[in-house]
Amino acid sequence: MLNCMAAGMAARGRIIAAAFISCALILPLLASAFEPSESGLRFPFPDFINSPSNNIEQGIQTNDPPKEEEPENQMSYKSPLKDKKPKIEQLREQNGVEDQPEAEPAENEDHGDESEAKPVEGNGEPEPVENAKGGLIEGFYEKDCPQAEQIVNEVLMKNLQKDATLAPAIVRLFSHDCLVKGCDASILLDETPSGEDVEKKAGPNGPFVRGFEVIDEAKERLEAECPGVVSCADIIAFANRDSLVNTGLPTYKVAAGRRDGLSSLAENVKNNLPVPDTPLQEMIDMFKRKGLTLEDLVVLVGAHSIGTAHCGVVKSRLFDKRKSMEMDQNYVEQMRFMCTRDDNMLPFDGVTQNKMDSQIYNEFLAKRALLESDHVLAKDPHGNDIMKKMAGDQAAWFAKFIGAIVKMGGIEVLTGNQGEIRRQCRAVN
Ligand code: HEM
Repeated sequence: MLNCMAAGMAARGRIIAAAFISCALILPLLASAFEPSESGLRFPFPDFINSPSNNIEQGIQTNDPPKEEEPENQMSYKSPLKDKKPKIEQLREQNGVEDQPEAEPAENEDHGDESEAKPVEGNGEPEPVENAKGGLIEGFYEKDCPQAEQIVNEVLMKNLQKDATLAPAIVRLFSHDCLVKGCDASILLDETPSGEDVEKKAGPNGPFVRGFEVIDEAKERLEAECPGVVSCADIIAFANRDSLVNTGLPTYKVAAGRRDGLSSLAENVKNNLPVPDTPLQEMIDMFKRKGLTLEDLVVLVGAHSIGTAHCGVVKSRLFDKRKSMEMDQNYVEQMRFMCTRDDNMLPFDGVTQNKMDSQIYNEFLAKRALLESDHVLAKDPHGNDIMKKMAGDQAAWFAKFIGAIVKMGGIEVLTGNQGEIRRQCRAVN
């Protein structure tokens, strides 16, 4: 370790950080060269690419029909609802899918605690399910665009082959869309008719929310195959699921039928999206207003099992005497050392940074949370209890995570004749 540090110190600039990180944090990646990116130091993801749970190759290289027996973690696009069309059609009609008149988005509803979503079983026999509150339906596109999920998957996989960091980026994109004015793809809009700043320009989104091009590409393909049918909001939801599955989460069904919002305002972001130093109670209240409990919150921040944060976002805490005293001191040293530039990126989980697994809770509990928000949840007695359970039982965390992310995907959704189906995701029709 000391040799590693010495080697790191002997080098310069980014190389210092790279050598140090290799030695101290991500030894399994030692053999790989670090890849400088436009925006600073980016970590390569070799274990992700080679992970048994990834299905990139299936996604991109063949259009073969799904194999008879697929590993648990992989998605199947067999049409599970073949014999159940009458029910689906009925639901679709109730949901107003036949005619899609444009209308003002409905007032946001507070779903409260009653919007409890059942954890979704990974690979059970599919039943068309109407989400009690949101009116979302599994198999929603079965009739008008049965290949919708397949197309989103293919586009995603193609992009992940070029840049695996898009998986965590899309997971973040989905949560930032849903937490602000519901899962209505408002985060994708480049402008609104009023000319005011849009959500994607707001501080907590800013340059660090990525993945827009993947959604654009999927939308372009879907418009070519089934014009005017698949919403941008559903595309994000499918891509989110597939990104999670590709990083290790068991697969689950995504109920669909979300419609796209007609506006996007930066000012809506402030009170809905927590930032790293949002006080604990405020963070809990924000989630509660969306029908998400403290347990959902703790379970969902487990998504920090994958991906990275920019030094610029975390360094004030690292260099704050009082706050840094609460952290594992070796960890603080390492993080400080790596933060030579604001655009350097640090992995949330220095042990298995590319895998959705409950190991991240061990980091949180050992005072190695990169974000203050994760740390305060680990410090809270309730949060701490939940984290301990999740750390010790990955299967339980998976089930709860799926339940919570499904619930998140139902936040304030527009359905029926609300909103619209955008022709392209960055602008209203
Ligand atoms: C609850 C409070 C939360 C806060 C304060 C928070 C904050 C952050 C911050 C500051 C980053 C780093 C951004 C950057 O520097 O590039 C980040 C990344 C990330 N967040 Fe959260 N987050 C929260 C909850 C969530 C939830 C609920 C999810 C998903 C269910 C999530 C998923 C992610 C992912 C996957 C990344 C990595 C993105 C990437 O590598 O591109 N976060 N978050």
